[in-house]
Order: sequence, then C-alpha cells, then structure tokens
Amino acid sequence: MLIVLLGPPGAGKGTQSKKICETMNLFHFSTGDILRNEVKEKTEIGLKIESIINAGNLVGDEIILEIVKKILKNELGKNKGILFDGFPRNFDQANAFESLLKDMKKQINFVIHLSVDQHEILKRIEKRQIDENREDDDVKVLKSRMNVYSNETMPLVDLYEKKNILKTINGMKTVEEVNNDIINCLK
Ligand code: AP5
Ligand code: MG
Repeated sequence: MLIVLLGPPGAGKGTQSKKICETMNLFHFSTGDILRNEVKEKTEIGLKIESIINAGNLVGDEIILEIVKKILKNELGKNKGILFDGFPRNFDQANAFESLLKDMKKQINFVIHLSVDQHEILKRIEKRQIDENREDDDVKVLKSRMNVYSNETMPLVDLYEKKNILKTINGMKTVEEVNNDIINCLK
C-alpha cells in the first residue's frame, strides 16, 4: 500500500501519519523530518539546504529524489507499504515519482488531501513555535511556505483527483476525529 498525504503547513500531516502508520503498519516517510535531521547533523546536504528550509522554499528536486530512491529501495519490502508525508510537492516530483514506481511495477493507492483553513494553520503554527521552536515556524516564513503550497503543491490535488485516487478529508476536526475519517475512507 502506498499512500501520499497532501496538505498545507500545519494541516496535521505528521500527526496523522504517525497514527496511520501505527494502525496500518506502514513506513512513515517524512521528507521534512529527514531534511531537518540532515541540517541538525550538519551533513553536506544539511549545509546546502539549511537556508532554503529556513526561508520556506522547496529544496531542489535532485536532492529529494535521491532520498526517495533510497527509501523505496530500503523500505518497500519491509512493511505493508509506505506513507509519503510531504512528497511529492510539485509536478516534477510527482512525474518522477510515477516513473520510479512504474519501473518497480507499483503505483500510489491513495492520496489523502488534508484540508485546513489559513486561520487554523496560523493558530497551530504559532502554538508549535512556542512548543517546539522549529526554525521555519516564524510567521514571515510561514507566509512563504503557504505561497509555495498554493502555487506548487496544491495543483497536485487536481492531478490526483483526475486519476481517481484522491480523498479529501476535513482536517479542522480533533486529531482523533480526523484520524477516524482517514481510516474509514481507506477501508
Ligand atoms: P515539512 O516538514 O513537510 O513541513 P510542512 O509541509 O510545512 O508541514 P508541517 O510539518 O509544518 O505540518 P504538518 O502538516 O506535518 O502538521 P503537524 O502534524 O506537524 O517541510 C518543511 C520544509 O522542508 C519545506 O518547507 C521544504 O523546505 C522542505 N521540504 C520537505 N519536503 C520537501 C519536498 N518533497 N520537496 C522539497 N522540499 C521539501 O501539525 C502541526 C501542529 O498542529 C502540531 O503542533 C500538531 O500538534 C497540531 N495539530 C495537528 N493536528 C491537529 C488537530 N486536528 N487539531 C489541533 N491541532 C492539531
Ligand atoms: Mg510535518
């Protein structure tokens, strides 16, 4: 089972991914978590991408696709599948992903689109900035993350709708309610 979780910053992708992966025995693949770890460890990639993440822009497709290839190679056989949290983020990533999967005779089963309004996003991110102090949770940077989402990622909603694999979920309910709605729509 290959599931993609799409949604704006603060939609609850990470929160829901953890729960879905536990319930369905999937590998949780968060590109954001992997990239933040590279920055924390000051790796060669980390040093290259730190300013990009902190400005709320997308890291280059080449770097992302290398990480995706590695994860597909290492994790595809081990679990019941993979949940992609934060990938793909633009058309080029979506197209490259599709051809990688095609080569492996696999395809995306479902794309879950978590829908949350801007007011709620701001509220959640302001709270998380206090709790976790994530560098890109600054209000100015959030604006650019939201712009990048609208311009580059949001068009993928249409793409996957046309492929008939899109499920839109109201992400404005409680964590438990959203989780129930996701699990029910995957049944
Ligand atoms: P990424 O880490 O993917 O960040 P994001 O998309 O901005 O999303 P967040 O992680 O902020 O939010 P989330 O949807 O996971 O919500 P969460 O569950 O945490 O990407 C970060 C950066 O990395 C990008 O800007 C880019 O630079 C780079 N990057 C990543 N992937 C890339 C790619 N493929 N290509 C290129 N660059 C890439 O929830 C948020 C908060 O709300 C939490 O505090 C949570 O407790 C709370 N919350 C969650 N659900 C609820 C609820 N139902 N009710 C109330 N509060 C809730
Ligand atoms: Mg996240």
